[in-house]
Amino acid sequence: MKRDEFSGFFGVLVATVGSAVGLGNLWRFPYLVGQNGGAAFVLIYLAFVLIICLPIVISEFIIGRRTKSNAVKAFQILAPRTPWSAIGIIGVLSAFCIMAFYTVVGGWTLDYLFRSLIHLFSKPDISLMESQFTSLVTSPVRPIIWTVVFIIFNAFIVMCGIKKGIEKYSRIMMPFLFLMIVILMIRSLSLPGAEKGVTFLVKPDFSKINTQVVLAALGQAFFSLSLGMGCLITYGSYVPARENLNKLAFFTAISDTLFAILAGLAIMPAVFAFGISPQEGPGLVFIVLPRIFAQIPLGNFFAVMFFIILLIAAVTSVISLLEVITAYITERLGIKRKIAVTIISLLVTACASFSSLSQGVLKDVKIFGKTMFDFFDYLSANILLPLGGLFIVLFVGWYMKKSQVYDEFTNQGALKGTLFRAYYFVIRYVAPVAIVAVFLDLILR
Ligand code: PFF
Repeated sequence: MKRDEFSGFFGVLVATVGSAVGLGNLWRFPYLVGQNGGAAFVLIYLAFVLIICLPIVISEFIIGRRTKSNAVKAFQILAPRTPWSAIGIIGVLSAFCIMAFYTVVGGWTLDYLFRSLIHLFSKPDISLMESQFTSLVTSPVRPIIWTVVFIIFNAFIVMCGIKKGIEKYSRIMMPFLFLMIVILMIRSLSLPGAEKGVTFLVKPDFSKINTQVVLAALGQAFFSLSLGMGCLITYGSYVPARENLNKLAFFTAISDTLFAILAGLAIMPAVFAFGISPQEGPGLVFIVLPRIFAQIPLGNFFAVMFFIILLIAAVTSVISLLEVITAYITERLGIKRKIAVTIISLLVTACASFSSLSQGVLKDVKIFGKTMFDFFDYLSANILLPLGGLFIVLFVGWYMKKSQVYDEFTNQGALKGTLFRAYYFVIRYVAPVAIVAVFLDLILR
């Protein structure tokens, strides 16, 4: 049977940007900016995206498209009978770990969307917002039901395949997502006192910069671009041979970064306008924003809009995670896509249920001193992604033949390879050193 493919440049782009734009942009980025000195953090983040992560995005695409295979088999083809395919296995594992907590947050988002639809955020009382959030996440049944609904939604899309599933729904959802975040940004910027939030995002305070901040920026760039776990290898394997991988990587990185900045401009001015600390952390989205929505005219409308944005962003990321495992299982075991997705979804539901329960009844069950939710989060973002990313650059920079890499970089010589030398230098030297630095920081912290 012919392997499914994206239909063309725009199709791959919306799917890849969909994977990149997610809770990482809307929830993690604004609060990291808040905690790490505002604009100075943003500048360092931008430099990392362009100098280090962009070449890694290209590398994952190169591995994927060259082999037209899932994240594990790709390494078996390029490096037969070597342990390199462990990178793909780590990737599949990371996809499970990320989904185990990400889908729970997806479930919370559905619950909040439902509540904003029935106008539940009408009192701007912060302690009420806090208790609402706590009672949701600690409840044994409600968040799991929403998580299951969320998983079914994603499973349905992935079951439909690449062109007729992932691409089709990303094409519908992504332009809508960008449009809505722009509207939300305009609303937020028009609040009295919004300038303070903008200043915070654009005026760098370099005195806040230390190694910790620099490394946090690199880690965020990794997570946000879906790097280091074979997700872009898998998507790259569905990219038609004629498409320019460098252009695709460039537009992906730019769109993801643009979205992070739009999200910052939608959230920070509102936070400042209401005198809330930008360092609020993970509760920013579920506790602080509903309070703001309760205070502004048409707040409920904007609350609905915000949670739809969060939902779309989460869905288009989770389908990419699901696809990493689906591609592997279907090609490895030769089973039908629908069956594979059903089995994976059941497994993810089991893991996600434990991580959801670990917020409440199972909060005393600890793995390495962390609740299951925090453990899945920590293990994937802080250990598996940097480790996978490091091995991917070492593989492309040092193991693969330079001519193979050049061929794929230039579409077998059809494109000019002007930037190849710069790219290759980063892949061989700059990126590995930078990732080792992040990795050590995350472990030693
Ligand atoms: N990039 C996503 C985000 O920013 O929320 C998270 C993610 C998706 C990470 C897919 C890794 C991945 F493979």
